[in-house]
Amino acid sequence: MKKVVSFILNGDQVEIEAEPHWTLLHLLREHLELTGTKSGCEAGECGACTVMINGKAVNSCLFPVMEIEGAEITTIEGLARPSGELDPLQKAFVEQGGVQCGFCSPGMVMSAKSLLGENPDPTEDEIRHALAGNFCRCTGYIQIIDSIKAASHAYKEKAGVPTEV
Ligand code: FES
Ligand code: FES
Repeated sequence: MKKVVSFILNGDQVEIEAEPHWTLLHLLREHLELTGTKSGCEAGECGACTVMINGKAVNSCLFPVMEIEGAEITTIEGLARPSGELDPLQKAFVEQGGVQCGFCSPGMVMSAKSLLGENPDPTEDEIRHALAGNFCRCTGYIQIIDSIKAASHAYKEKAGVPTEV
C-alpha cells in the first residue's frame, strides 16, 4: 500500500505517494522524471545511481524510499543554477575531458560534490578513495581525477581562498 513521503529535492519541497518496496532510484527515474541519475547494476556495485542525501553520496539503487522522509536530496539536476550556469564541478568535467560516453558522469559528479563538501582540498589519494565505488568504462579515470582537482581550485577561487600556482 502506498504511503506519502515528504522531503526536499533539489531545493524544493516534495510530497509524493510511494510503495514501501521502492528504492530512491526508482522514485527519481520512474515517478519524478529525473533521469540524470543513472541505473546501472542496481546492486550497489557501479555508482551510476549516486545522489546526495543530506550532503553525503549514497547509492540510490539501494536506498529504501521510505527512509528519505525529511531528508534533503540533491541529484545531478540540482547542481546547475536556474540560469543554466553549470556548477564548477560540471564545468571542470567538460573542460578536462572527464566525460566520454557520460553514463558514469552524474554519479561521479555527485560523489565528487560530496567529497568537496567535506574536504575542499583533497589529495589525489583522497579523490581516488571517494570514487572507489564509481566505475567508468571509458576514461581510465585520469581525466576524472583531473576534473575534480580543477573543480577544487575553482571552488577555492570562488571562495577567495588563495590557490597554489
Ligand atoms: S545502479 Fe546503483 S550502484 Fe549500480
Ligand atoms: S564516461 Fe563512459 S562510463 Fe564513464
